[in-house]
Amino acid sequence: MPGAIYAEGLVKTFGEVRALDGVDLDVPQGTVLGLLGPNGAGKTTAVRCLTTLLRPDAGRAVVAGVDVLRHPDEVRRSIGLSGQFAAVDEYLTGRENLRMVGRLYQMGGREAKARADELLDRFHLADAADRITKTYSGGMRRRLDLAAALVVRPPVMFMDEPTTGLDPRNRQQLWDVIQELVAGGTTLLLTTQYLEEADHLAHDIAVVDHGRVIARGTSDQLKARTGGERVEVVVHDRERIGEARAVLAGFGEGGTTYEEHTRKLTVPVSGGARLLAEVIRELDARGIEIDDIALRRPTLDDVFISLTGHAAALNGEGGANGASGGSGGSGGNGGKAEAGADDRTRTADGTGAPVPDAGTGGKWSQ
Ligand SMILES: Nc1ncnc2c1ncn2[C@@H]1O[C@H](COP(=O)(O)OP(=O)(O)OP(=O)(O)O)[C@@H](O)[C@H]1O
Ligand SMILES: [Mg+2]
Repeated sequence: MPGAIYAEGLVKTFGEVRALDGVDLDVPQGTVLGLLGPNGAGKTTAVRCLTTLLRPDAGRAVVAGVDVLRHPDEVRRSIGLSGQFAAVDEYLTGRENLRMVGRLYQMGGREAKARADELLDRFHLADAADRITKTYSGGMRRRLDLAAALVVRPPVMFMDEPTTGLDPRNRQQLWDVIQELVAGGTTLLLTTQYLEEADHLAHDIAVVDHGRVIARGTSDQLKARTGGERVEVVVHDRERIGEARAVLAGFGEGGTTYEEHTRKLTVPVSGGARLLAEVIRELDARGIEIDDIALRRPTLDDVFISLTGHAAALNGEGGANGASGGSGGSGGNGGKAEAGADDRTRTADGTGAPVPDAGTGGKWSQ
């Protein structure tokens, strides 16, 4: 039986760009799938197809037991969406925004008010609740948008980069909210550029690049494929890089990479903190001075390098950024790119969650 979110061979092209190139997904009910990928990988496009905002060129999708292509209206009744860009009405206050969503979903006035108050509290917006949203900071808008997506507790939720732009405290807070939701039986697909976030929240992770799922598994499985942890050493003296590299190679379980401008060597290892001490002793014994040393978990970039042999492409355009195997760039998940504009629309017709063309029934945007 397909899961609460199921997709098979989804294809979506925009002119020359194959944003989705045959994506298969299966998310069992009550679990979280993390869709992990760099800018331009196709994450938002996948979310838009699954939430009926965009009609795929080919493939099949079933959400909450309903065929997405055949019955988009019905799907909209069972899902909630928090898009990549906040979809709040700037000229309403935070409280009004949330109450409006409740009313659109046919909640009674009292219930909508209670739910709005609860969510404002939950997302630390109570103090700003009666200010118009136009005056909110970016992080406040994002939190309000997420709160709006949670007003009706839909059984299937989609969150497109929910924590981008949140400070650490609010990010943690949102992680808690998400974990509670899932404990209550909600099925969630969330997109992220951070392995750490997928690691923390997702039961399963699908790594996407250029519109394809290039790897899937649990966080531990992906990390095992990526080669476990990394030791990073910043060598004080550029002249000694070669020697330091040879030392690290002796401890490593894969190729050493070198980042020129930071004088940083990185090598995949297993053996944790004990090994770190050994590396330090060995470098010290050879009189190689270091400015910094750290043991860290793999990042999205490490996953990419080990899966594809290149770092994640910047903005998804133009392929690899040249960091292959041995040397160079930490590459790609820095600057946030643009994305489609109209994935922000939330329900306007009271039928359910996101609606592309309010009131026109199952009409699809292209
Ligand atoms: N409406 C559109 N018209 C033309 N091209 C588009 C459109 N929407 C997306 N694309 C292209 O499709 C590809 C995938 O974009 P998408 O927004 O799905 O990526 P993403 O993984 O969400 O990236 P990000 O991390 O930057 O949000 C990109 O090359 C993008 O430029
Ligand atoms: Mg996106």
